[in-house]
Amino acid sequence: MNGYFNHQQDRLHAENVALEEIAQRFGTPCYVYSRAALTDGYRQFAEAFKSREHLICYAVKANSNLAILNLFARMGAGFDIVSGGELQRVLAAGGAAGKVVFSGVGKSESEMRQALEAEILCFNVESPSELDRLNEVAGSMGKVAPISLRVNPDVDARTHPYISTGLKQNKFGVAYTEAFELYRRAAAMPHLRITGMDCHIGSQLTETSPFIAAAEKVLALVDRLAAAGIVLEHLDLGGGLGIRYDDEMPPSIAEYAQALLGALKGRSEKIIVEPGRVLVGNAGILLTRIEYLKHGEEKNFAIVDAAMNDLMRPALYDAFHAIQPVRKSAAASQLYEVVGPICETGDFLGHARQLGVSAGDVLAVMSAGAYGMSMSSNYNTRPRAAEVMVDGAVTHLVRERETVRQLYASEKIVT
Ligand code: LLP
Repeated sequence: MNGYFNHQQDRLHAENVALEEIAQRFGTPCYVYSRAALTDGYRQFAEAFKSREHLICYAVKANSNLAILNLFARMGAGFDIVSGGELQRVLAAGGAAGKVVFSGVGKSESEMRQALEAEILCFNVESPSELDRLNEVAGSMGKVAPISLRVNPDVDARTHPYISTGLKQNKFGVAYTEAFELYRRAAAMPHLRITGMDCHIGSQLTETSPFIAAAEKVLALVDRLAAAGIVLEHLDLGGGLGIRYDDEMPPSIAEYAQALLGALKGRSEKIIVEPGRVLVGNAGILLTRIEYLKHGEEKNFAIVDAAMNDLMRPALYDAFHAIQPVRKSAAASQLYEVVGPICETGDFLGHARQLGVSAGDVLAVMSAGAYGMSMSSNYNTRPRAAEVMVDGAVTHLVRERETVRQLYASEKIVT
């Protein structure tokens, strides 16, 4: 827990609004974000990097709600996108195309066109074939595409294997050993302009050393390129800084920045970073109401109205999210499996949680601001949750709960 989600007279609040009242007013499941947590996080980043030219490109995939994108855009953020859809969201939220970097291994021709049209800052190119395609597409539009190569530095991020991206067996980036030659090829392509180098080694990192190891490998390559006459303007060191879900002790934003800046001492390139989780993860929670308590032969179940379709991380990564009642209760404390209504054994939000609760109580699933709503689905024809943003004592609905009708609106019956 953090100060943005805090107890006042036995009731858990988001800033100055009781979560129980939000559940009452907007229904459950419902994501709740603290505006102060979002803006404080961004400010810490800006402060930590202010000693040199930098751009903080928020990784849109972590949470792509327009209100959040807009908040960061107004604070000067750029954006790391991985699809044409994310670009459209950024623009709709008032983000500047000129501060957008486009990552991802499978950019389609139409996505390239869309990004060239919008005049984004840089394409983070992840393969030789993508380089060829981008050169062609830019040429056909009479444009020159600004590019970085995303280099795979073959560094172990020491995180969950599903979110580790910087090892040579991963699909991401171009092989470290081939990057130099590929830069030379790119330099000869008429519709590309080399502007930088990029790497991103994984997510939820809880130590600085892998970031530094990756930066050192990238810098060695930058120097080799400079000696060959290819001089880069920026270095994009990706995202990946972890947060505390349980008992992890990740470095603070300031410590992380300090470590990166140390590795970059004496260099003049502009720094780009792509933080996602660390900016939004602990700025959001998921509210859910207990439908039933069920006492099985071996286990007790708290069956709640949120499920794996709302928050997929426990089912997908066996990820831990703290769960707490929004009001202290006199109910006897017991060990519960906190599960959703979906017809899958993997549909759980938490195993073996000690909770003193009754049916009808509201629970807060903590640290749910990153990769929560953005990974949600409609499995079991469940409309996606509402999202609200709390600002002091004021609550704004920033996404209405989906309706079932919306879910099948584009389907057709064949006669
Ligand atoms: N840049 C690139 C190119 C990325 O692929 C990612 C995340 C980021 C930046 C932001 O990383 P962050 O700062 O959030 O760690 N769904 C998983 C996380 C997947 C991360 C994918 N890439 C989860 O729920 O843990």
